Amino acid sequence: MLLKLGKVPTVILSSSETARQALKDHDLNCCSRPHLAGPRELSYNYLDIAFSPFDDYWKDVRKLAVQELFSTKQVNSIQPIKEEEVKKLIDSMAESASQKTPVNLNEKFIALTVSVLCRAAFGVSFEETVLSNGKLNKLVREAYEMLGVFSASDYIPYVGSMVDWFTGLQGRREKSVGDLDAFYEQMFDLHKEEKEKGSEDFVDLLLRLEKEKTVVGNDKFTRNHIKAILMNILLAGIDTSSISMTWAMAELAKNPRVMNKVQSEIRNQMANKSSISLDIDQLHYLKMVIKETWRLHPPAPLLVPREVMSEFEINGYKIEPKTQLYVNVWAIGHDPDTWKDPEMFFPERFMDSNIDAKGNNFELLPFGAGRRICPGMYMGTSMVEFGLANMLYHFDWKLPEGMVVEDIDMEESPGLTVSKKNELVLVPVKYFDH
Ligand code: HEM
Repeated sequence: MLLKLGKVPTVILSSSETARQALKDHDLNCCSRPHLAGPRELSYNYLDIAFSPFDDYWKDVRKLAVQELFSTKQVNSIQPIKEEEVKKLIDSMAESASQKTPVNLNEKFIALTVSVLCRAAFGVSFEETVLSNGKLNKLVREAYEMLGVFSASDYIPYVGSMVDWFTGLQGRREKSVGDLDAFYEQMFDLHKEEKEKGSEDFVDLLLRLEKEKTVVGNDKFTRNHIKAILMNILLAGIDTSSISMTWAMAELAKNPRVMNKVQSEIRNQMANKSSISLDIDQLHYLKMVIKETWRLHPPAPLLVPREVMSEFEINGYKIEPKTQLYVNVWAIGHDPDTWKDPEMFFPERFMDSNIDAKGNNFELLPFGAGRRICPGMYMGTSMVEFGLANMLYHFDWKLPEGMVVEDIDMEESPGLTVSKKNELVLVPVKYFDH
């Protein structure tokens, strides 16, 4: 679909075939990012990874992050952190279970991913920061809205900025940037206090690059570069994983057959061990449940917008330089030409199929594909698998008193990522006593 928003040509690709042509055959023609007002402010003028244009800085900083944070070795090394944080979550759920009180799963999952990521990437626990007590959830959602919202200044030269000012969007954006900045500053302080000891972690490494005035791409590395990169980890990492867990639990609560089947798989596999170190590789049905969740509820339904750098053709249509390109992975996941009964939550559809979610199969693209594919794919997947496996192993899940399955709504909230708009509230019931 070709649209023209103001002066900006915009293309939305909504089939797996056109997505394949763009992200595989013509990836190098279209792997930059457009200059948009929300991302510009939150990324300190595109000093991050996700919104940086395709240039030497992006290549260097992405390589650095892949080596130091996202490699399989690094991700496996954070397993003890995940186990500790999941154990805390299980204990808090067990308390609610003994009092038969409902829990808000959106909040619990976001708290879990925040704790794991802050400890893994920043080397400190978020509990002591300005954003404890659930404030982070709000801040992350607001920042995502600012990244994804339609901003007049992106499409109407000069007058657009005034429109943003009148509508209050500019003020909201500035507040969001200010709140996040305060969070990073507190992170640095906590980091300094806690990191007197211990080996160099990812934040130490970034701070060292700043201190040594290292040139990355063509830029001398500054404090703003660090903040922009931390923004990516905070927003790209936390929200997407917790959104995935919440949608999965909502679908399972709506589909008791699937819930029972996935719990049986996990419990048979674990044979009543109380350890939380699950051997995830053996949990084939759980993996299908997660893929089915990503098919119906991709956390970033339009991926992150790309900008075309040089002309190419898709199905005979010329796509010009500077065109904004969106890939509608939500539509691709709901396409009746690809998926039988696309609205149905039916993980078995993946049983005899080799479709994976790793950017090789254009029917299922929760992490995108090509040069801009999510570098946190392995980290995010292992977080979602481990978190869900434990929640489903240790607890049965009931609806709060007076509620029936039909009452669980699947309304979505707007933004660059799409989370469940309303809280998912369920009552945990302990499966066994520890
Ligand atoms: C279930 C979890 C996750 C999902 C579904 C997800 C999804 C995505 C998507 C759709 C993109 C855009 C790809 C494109 O433009 O084609 C992306 C990019 C990115 N993600 Fe993730 N992500 C997840 C977890 C993570 C984690 C845990 C981190 C970091 C801690 C992370 C960091 C990034 C970064 C830095 C980018 C920008 C890459 C670039 O532009 O070069 N993501 N992610």
